[in-house]
Amino acid sequence: MPANDLTQVIILGASGDLTARKLIPALYAAHCQHLFSGRLQVIGVARRPWDDAFFRDHLSKAGSTMPGCSYDSWETFLKLVTYVQTHLETVADYSALKAKLDALAGEICNRVFYLAVKPELFLPSVENLHQVGLLDQSSGATRRVVVEKPFGTDLKSARSLNYALLQILGEDQLYRIDHYLGKETVQNIFVCRFRNAMFEPLWNQKYVELVQITVAESIGMENGRGGYYDTAGAVSDILQNHALQLLALTAMEPPSRLDQKSIRDEKVKVLEDLRLFSDMPEPHKCIVRGQYDGYRDEPGVAKNSQTETYISTRAYIDNWRWGGVPFLLRTGKHLPARFTSISVQFRMPPHTLFGAYNECHLRPNTLTMRIQPSEGTDLTFDVKEPGAGINIKPAKLTFDYQDYFHKPNPKAYQRLLQDVISGDQSLFLRSDEVEESWRWADDLRRVMLDTPLLPYAKNSWGPAAANSLFGECEGRWAQG
Ligand code: BG6
Repeated sequence: MPANDLTQVIILGASGDLTARKLIPALYAAHCQHLFSGRLQVIGVARRPWDDAFFRDHLSKAGSTMPGCSYDSWETFLKLVTYVQTHLETVADYSALKAKLDALAGEICNRVFYLAVKPELFLPSVENLHQVGLLDQSSGATRRVVVEKPFGTDLKSARSLNYALLQILGEDQLYRIDHYLGKETVQNIFVCRFRNAMFEPLWNQKYVELVQITVAESIGMENGRGGYYDTAGAVSDILQNHALQLLALTAMEPPSRLDQKSIRDEKVKVLEDLRLFSDMPEPHKCIVRGQYDGYRDEPGVAKNSQTETYISTRAYIDNWRWGGVPFLLRTGKHLPARFTSISVQFRMPPHTLFGAYNECHLRPNTLTMRIQPSEGTDLTFDVKEPGAGINIKPAKLTFDYQDYFHKPNPKAYQRLLQDVISGDQSLFLRSDEVEESWRWADDLRRVMLDTPLLPYAKNSWGPAAANSLFGECEGRWAQG
């Protein structure tokens, strides 16, 4: 139990983009809607020689009032925000930081340290916090650390980062964020599957022909991201984390309870069962990678870069439920639309009463979970066209979040920060989950090097070769 009801959220690296664009608006939204049960203080920590007034002004320029919250409430919120200049690599500065935090609290309080810093600083920051006693929980107050992605750059580095952090922190103190898990529609995958008896009995290889998961982006290397992206590529930037999380939630067994251990145990099992490409007889037929035209001219990108800005794969989960069902995964930059969706395509009925099947008949039944930007669920099925004879036409049932609830969904970071403060790790990645994801992604990256890096035009759906990942009559990629 928390020592009392005051929580300090200390953002390390607070002068960066993430703080102003995501973290502060999320904290503010939760605060002004009275979603925190206790009191809050927010402390920005960074190297720049700013003071409280400058920091607040910087946030005001980036922040806006939230729907349902008045301008006054933003002013009230800002009074909870302070700034402490700190060189994050200098341990002596952390002693001063501790003194300031203690003085600000004036009592024993819970603390959340949010590492909005470069990945190289994850470990040194935690070591320094530890060194000056800022992670000590002996008073009964909680000390939690939130780590942004990328968590490692491959299995080896993720393992050693896990090992080093877990020398200092308990797994229950470490919150590895994947912001996709904070999205309402991603959490709805759970409700859709485990609350509706009409879907779950069909959710297996007997009835599902294939599943496709797309994270399509229309943006490229905006905001000076070229330098980082060129060292990462589409596999590390999106596939290994956001797309695999969507896959894990779609494919996992029902957890016995809705607690963090049961949920994370089931997700890890799916990731463990992902077939390695190097174990496939013809792996190059299951991977298509591409790079958009003009990528090498982006600032920060190497002139001879071999980094993929597009990747699509035909993946398999080798377990009883999913044996033989392809999971087609795709992500790319500079595609014609921004959308994320999961489509579960059901098999044709075993026998037809309406004339011979054309093997390539469009499958009548798909369940599409639209994650963003238009959030909702579509169910397609065939109907008889009115009139003589039997003419069959496709129809669609649509549920749309905005139309139904008439209010915007909370932002991902808001939900996740609320969970950190209340100590719920269900939507955060456990060490084994991160490592299993890297195990699969590392293998993909190794095998991928033997496949051509195909060019594609900006604003196209990526290399045409990606269509060949579908079997002859299995359909085609969704287009949002
Ligand atoms: C980030 C990636 O994790 O997710 C970015 O680093 C990507 O490259 C972003 O643009 C996409 O997030 P969202 O929520 O806009 O789909």
